[in-house]
Amino acid sequence: MATPRSTFSNKFGFVAAAAGSAVGLGNIWKFPFEVGKGGGSAFLIIYLIFTFVLCYPILVTEIAIGRRSQKSAAMAFKPLGHPKWTFVGIIGVICGVLILSFYNIVAGWVLGYFVEMLLGNFEIGEHFDTYVTDIAEISGYTLAFLLATAYIVSQGITKGIEKASKILMPSLLVIMLILTAYAMMLDGAGAGVAFYLIPDFSKIDLNVIYRALGQSFFSLSLGLGALITYGSYLSRKEDIVSSGIMITFADAGIAFLAGLMIFPFVFSEGIEPEGGAGLIFMTMPGIFKTMGPTLGVVIGSLFFLLLAFAALTSTISLLELPVSYMVDKHKIKRKWAVWYSAGIIFLLGIPSMVGFGYSDFFTNFITYVGRTEPVNFMDFVTDIASNTLLPFGGFLVSVFAIHIWKRRKLFRELSHGNPGFTRSWLAKYISFTLTYISPPVLGAIFIITILEVFFGVKII
Ligand code: TRP
Repeated sequence: MATPRSTFSNKFGFVAAAAGSAVGLGNIWKFPFEVGKGGGSAFLIIYLIFTFVLCYPILVTEIAIGRRSQKSAAMAFKPLGHPKWTFVGIIGVICGVLILSFYNIVAGWVLGYFVEMLLGNFEIGEHFDTYVTDIAEISGYTLAFLLATAYIVSQGITKGIEKASKILMPSLLVIMLILTAYAMMLDGAGAGVAFYLIPDFSKIDLNVIYRALGQSFFSLSLGLGALITYGSYLSRKEDIVSSGIMITFADAGIAFLAGLMIFPFVFSEGIEPEGGAGLIFMTMPGIFKTMGPTLGVVIGSLFFLLLAFAALTSTISLLELPVSYMVDKHKIKRKWAVWYSAGIIFLLGIPSMVGFGYSDFFTNFITYVGRTEPVNFMDFVTDIASNTLLPFGGFLVSVFAIHIWKRRKLFRELSHGNPGFTRSWLAKYISFTLTYISPPVLGAIFIITILEVFFGVKII
């Protein structure tokens, strides 16, 4: 007899795990440099609009699909009676593996920096460019991080994923609040906060919109079925609608806080805010140095520990995608699925790892017609997997929910745990967005960006 599917113990367990998946390097590492590149507040505003207006309805839909089907992303469409849609889940699994392959490298840097801070090596910030070419060291840290992720996922839902998230998420919030308070008291804080919060609408162009949309999806872990998978472990007693609100607020809130924490630091150091992937790695150690040897070591290592925590609750959700697929589809043991996927992900990460100067080929990997300079392998995967395919996944999920699965069934699922839902204004809002807003907006942005970003066809 099949064993019953494991479930999160309660709503808090689920919200901690899903918010843990959402809050990650995307919020604290990626968000600030995207804001920096996108002209500060202009990016912030568009990101917030996308997150609350467009992404929240898709988020609850993914969770509902998962809970209804009781299956992971790639297997979820069949039990709902639409096996042809399985391809959406399969693209999701592949996309998740690709994202994890590079995400894990950044997590490796974080772990490395944590150790350097403990050792009081604050000069590391000036040597970021050479540090990331030290492949022996980076691959060691990357492997260590992947092993930690694999271990947690191999422990299963309640004892692994849920337990880790319940401890890591609250600790992260506490460390972050301490650092933000400290940042606010710095000399350059005013200029940083102004850059971050005073809107300059002239900075908004297609590229900013495209990246802000990708960021919203990436940050909420949306568009590739990670939340379908988590939803499949959620009990019918729990309310998806209010859990979704908490997850969205937690994610956007932590990203917002990360900006408040980083920009005062960036400006007080006199660093260019559009520093790219290295931004926090180059900025932060110098700041910790100014705190003096003892305090610097404490705050510096806390900061990178916080980042490692945030990354870990996200990597587990990414690894869960291929793992649950293999367990559901091929009925293999969870442990084997974990180690097998982890091995493949490590190998796939190598091009990203050497793409920061070690290998010229992967550093100047590709030039698309729409780009002026060659991008490295990690940026290439980000453009394809997260900026393009995630919003496209959101498009497919919206179309599926309204036209194939049908609104009635979606609403019935959302009413479990929230009996008054169908009559609420939120129901009207979710239905309106999924029907009239997300398909045309996401579809149009998908086509325009493919043409403009990858083929250089000027449309707007
Ligand atoms: N949301 C995570 C972050 O912000 C990254 C992440 C975890 C993710 N799981 C995902 C992104 C699934 C897309 C899909 O760091």
